[in-house]
Amino acid sequence: MSEQNIYILGIESSCDDTAAAVIHNGKILSNVIANQKIHEAYGGVVPELASRAHQQNIVPVVSQALTKANITKNQLHAIAFTRGPGLMGSLLVGTSFAKSLAYGLNIPLVDVNHMQAHILAHFIDEEGFNKPPFPFIGMTISGGHTQIVKVSSFFDMEVIGETIDDAVGEAFDKSGKILGLGYPAGPIIDKLAKLGNPKKFQFTKPKVDGLNFSFSGLKTAILYFIQTETKANPNFIEENLNDICASIQYTIIEILIDKLKLATKKTGIKHIAIGGGVSANSGIRQALKDGEHKFGWTTYVPKFEFTTDNAAMIAIVGYLKFLDNTFANQSVTASARLKI
Ligand code: KG4
Ligand code: ZN
Repeated sequence: MSEQNIYILGIESSCDDTAAAVIHNGKILSNVIANQKIHEAYGGVVPELASRAHQQNIVPVVSQALTKANITKNQLHAIAFTRGPGLMGSLLVGTSFAKSLAYGLNIPLVDVNHMQAHILAHFIDEEGFNKPPFPFIGMTISGGHTQIVKVSSFFDMEVIGETIDDAVGEAFDKSGKILGLGYPAGPIIDKLAKLGNPKKFQFTKPKVDGLNFSFSGLKTAILYFIQTETKANPNFIEENLNDICASIQYTIIEILIDKLKLATKKTGIKHIAIGGGVSANSGIRQALKDGEHKFGWTTYVPKFEFTTDNAAMIAIVGYLKFLDNTFANQSVTASARLKI
């Protein structure tokens, strides 16, 4: 078997997206995601419903990934799957499916840490996207995670900062809920913020030592602010929505950029690679780019479809671990709190 001709199936089911992707060497041939719309009605992910939807979606999603890649399951060299962290009921579906498929096909199984995968998504071969050189700082920002990681090599990663309460995406989503916006609110706030004045309202930034984050205080500050203002003027939100969104987004960006500045200072590393759904935010992208001139760092943002939860990032880790001969055996179990 030539190293130049390896097909790996990646399976991701850690939260509310059922995803499967096929990678051929380092290049993605298919990247299929079934989003679970059902959670929108609840304003957040309902674990029990997520698990049930994964069971319904997993077979069609995997089969579509193989069809789109134009291969059959018999051409696969390994099955990679998300072992954790995530929701146990969701992880169990992908884990059990991957184990059964690998067993049935008699091919190796590769367990993947979802947080490592968000970072290693940068190593997918994709035209127009540069891969960060080691060592670099990885920052994963999404609805479930906020982490700063020192990445010394593919499998040598150290978490140097993380949130002690809410994730940054939750800060967007919960603020949006207070303002009566839809779910997820991040993209809506991003859009409205473009039309508003980011300095109109000030919110106190949390004081958290070192490289850790806290976002729950900001959410409470926004809630009290809105309650006070709407008491005085019931139309306060609609009259100021763009400015409120711009000011919230501005505060969140400042929090993230402050920590990145500290991370580059502490580590001496100037390459920054971001991932996770919140990295789609136009204000954050702009602030990172501005930082290239202001602070002398270089930033890397993967293709959008590889930043949100997806299976292509699981497949690339599967490929890298395959080359490294690191496999799981059939006794592997899902781990909701798996650490990097
Ligand atoms: O990575 P992702 O799709 O799923 C996980 O949470 O793992 O991230 C979803 C999060 C949500 O909180 C959503 O509001 C946020 O990413 N998001 C954004 C934007 N697009 C998605 N937040 C701010 N600005 C955006 N443009
Ligand atoms: Zn994720």
